[in-house]
Amino acid sequence: MSNKMWGGRFTSGPDAIMETIGASIDFDWHLYRQDIAASKAHAEMLAKQGIITKDDARQIAHGLDTILSEIGSGKFKFKRALEDIHMNIESRLAELIGPAAGRLHTARSRNDQVATDFRLWMRERIDDINALLGDYQRALAEKALEHAGTVMPGLTHLQSAQPVTFGHHLLAYVEMASRDRGRFADAQSRLNEMPLGSAALAGTSFPLDRNMTAEALEFDRPMANSLDAVSDRDFVMETLAAASIAAIHLSRLAEEIILWTSPLVGLVKLSDKFTTGSSIMPQKRNPDAAELVKGKTGRVIGALNAILIVMKGLPLAYGRDMQEDKEGTIDALSTLAVCIDAMTGMVRDMTPDTERMKAAAGEGYSTATDLADWLVQNLKMPFRDAHHVTGRIVAQASKGNVPLHELSLADMKKIESKITKSVFDVLSVERSVQSRVSYGGTAPKNVAVQAKKWLKTLDKERQ
Ligand code: ARG
Repeated sequence: MSNKMWGGRFTSGPDAIMETIGASIDFDWHLYRQDIAASKAHAEMLAKQGIITKDDARQIAHGLDTILSEIGSGKFKFKRALEDIHMNIESRLAELIGPAAGRLHTARSRNDQVATDFRLWMRERIDDINALLGDYQRALAEKALEHAGTVMPGLTHLQSAQPVTFGHHLLAYVEMASRDRGRFADAQSRLNEMPLGSAALAGTSFPLDRNMTAEALEFDRPMANSLDAVSDRDFVMETLAAASIAAIHLSRLAEEIILWTSPLVGLVKLSDKFTTGSSIMPQKRNPDAAELVKGKTGRVIGALNAILIVMKGLPLAYGRDMQEDKEGTIDALSTLAVCIDAMTGMVRDMTPDTERMKAAAGEGYSTATDLADWLVQNLKMPFRDAHHVTGRIVAQASKGNVPLHELSLADMKKIESKITKSVFDVLSVERSVQSRVSYGGTAPKNVAVQAKKWLKTLDKERQ
């Protein structure tokens, strides 16, 4: 049998593979609330414009409400033969209200319908992710405040560089998450325009009031070009780009947690809540959640890649290729949400081993820069010369296998005679971090100020 929705000119039904390749209902059912809301707004507008009767509009709205609760309660039977969410809902509407259902699709196409639904869905999803990122920032900022003065090794090239504070390190991720939220907000503000009323691609001869529909659906405005409205998926690409960057940020912290919790490093502990054991090695405590955040980041980036590739070289206007925009996106955004949640949990859970952190912070001559700075500030040496002198002192200490602050003043004087014992004031890791008071620097008092500032900002957001 040919399709009831579009089969007028067809004599036979589709080949079996058509259902398999064509059906999107397995994933686009996620859009049911948006599809119903958009249909209700459309019907109401059609009635107000005298395009359908008020009675038809009432029946349509009533039928759609019934469908909403059927789907919500799991009673609705989705049919793959009906391809997608739009036709599943319309077909059920016909069962419920009869011929009036057939008037809903006046001045509308699945092309503007799906673009509208997906924008509405994305707008909501971004709100969820934004809230989750806010919780993640709060967890980081709270831990940062608690550890504003906890000294840890700061690395570059994964080599000992300079001591930093654990709080400072965590606040770096708060800043990243803040830009992530900014990117989502940008994407959300740009996507908030309404395709509905563009019909298949060219607009329609019916006297629509697109402003009315846009207002009902809380879009900023109807889209100004019908071809653009049905055929661009830049809002998908942009949101997934934001999602990919956010996931990459999470995945970097995940990798750090993996490093820190390795027994070889031992800077941080995760509790039983966020570790798993091994079925063969009884001693194991594996940071699975952190590893999975890294792994799942691949999925999120994969979804971005997929939509970029689908869209490149697609001529205007709608092409069925674009149906591939949804499965990966829906998956990617829920994957990201899970990753944020897991990271928030791990951040709250992790306990730094402060003694070990402090000891590790002093390894590898990490206060050498402080010595060079002392030479500049106290002996008025040009920095390049101070760097050279410090290098010789480090070499001396390294030969005797002692840390800088354990080298004798006499040994230092052999290299630079003007050095005085006040140099020892700057060689401890605590003094080193305390001295980094430049704006944005790692000094505990800076970190406390920044952490409090973030917590205040995050509190305000909640009100
Ligand atoms: N399921 C389709 C999609 O996601 C809806 C639009 C179908 N339009 C069409 N002309 N076949 O893209």
